[in-house]
Amino acid sequence: MPRILAIETSCDETAVAIVEDGKNIISNIVASQMEIHQRFGGVVPEVASRHHVENMTMVVEEAMSAAKMSYKDLDAIAVTEGPGLVGALLVGVNTAKGLAYAHDLPLLPVHHIGGHIHAAQLVAEVEYPTLALVVSGGHTSLIYMPKEGVYEGVGETRDDAVGEAYDKVARTIGLSYPGGPEIDRLAAKGEVTIDFPRAWLEDGSYDFSFSGLKSAVLNYIHNAKQRGEEVVPENVAASFQASVTDVLVERSRRAASEYDVKQFLVTGGVAANRELRSSMESEFPAEGNVELVIPPLSLCTDNAAMIGAAAQIAWKKGLRAGYDLNGEPGLLL
Ligand code: KG4
Ligand code: ZN
Repeated sequence: MPRILAIETSCDETAVAIVEDGKNIISNIVASQMEIHQRFGGVVPEVASRHHVENMTMVVEEAMSAAKMSYKDLDAIAVTEGPGLVGALLVGVNTAKGLAYAHDLPLLPVHHIGGHIHAAQLVAEVEYPTLALVVSGGHTSLIYMPKEGVYEGVGETRDDAVGEAYDKVARTIGLSYPGGPEIDRLAAKGEVTIDFPRAWLEDGSYDFSFSGLKSAVLNYIHNAKQRGEEVVPENVAASFQASVTDVLVERSRRAASEYDVKQFLVTGGVAANRELRSSMESEFPAEGNVELVIPPLSLCTDNAAMIGAAAQIAWKKGLRAGYDLNGEPGLLL
């Protein structure tokens, strides 16, 4: 039943959605600041906060009018509590508090990564036990869920998040921010000609490490230039992407079999990557016993519909926030 208005402002997207039953999207508006941050080569926190303030009211109104609803039709207001940029989070949290107070609606706190995971609910019936690979600009986590609302960390990056590695490597090849989609496009035109390292770490580990790979790409470009050799950006992109994909897919396949799950979910901005999607699809074939669920691109990158989906779990658990809710940049799942 519940119809939830959800707000997401943890990074550089001002997003508001209305979601019913944690699975039906009634409206879903995302105002991206990507072009603004592009000229700085990355997200500038203070600039992000200011733009959230500027856009917020308009995005809320747009989500309400697209849904053709009034506040009487809503049951709760949900908001990303963390993790994320503190100033950015605060804009969403304060807007949510204001709306909850003004319209006498309960306030539901949502974890951003929980949001990415439960984006799967918007496209499939999630069956437990399940595993989720969350790959974004800030996170690379493998999470086991024996049942709804219970999260056990299985693996985590020990240094850079995978999206961060994409963005940094993109910058060295001279591509604009965000680098992930750019590398994705470039790699499709290249070949895997360079054997970049894969950080397998110790036997049995489900952790990840991408900083060595990032340095290997930088060194390769530096050395090739010093030797006067031609650097083919398409091949660097394809070889880097192959190394990332190999590790993500191997960890996912092994975890899915060890944890004996019904489904395997892949979410977060990097799940938009075409190479990763197709490698996952061949590793978890449609007729296999583990169902692969990868939401469409628009639900993989930051959005508020995923926050509305995750809020359904907070709603069912009876979790409610008070007006003292704060943005928590380091919030744990
Ligand atoms: O989930 P998201 O929108 O924001 C965070 O919570 O971080 O993820 C953004 C990240 C960026 O690092 C971006 O470069 C990466 O996702 N990304 C991609 C692709 N599209 C976005 N990485 C690889 N291939 C893509 N197609
Ligand atoms: Zn995210």
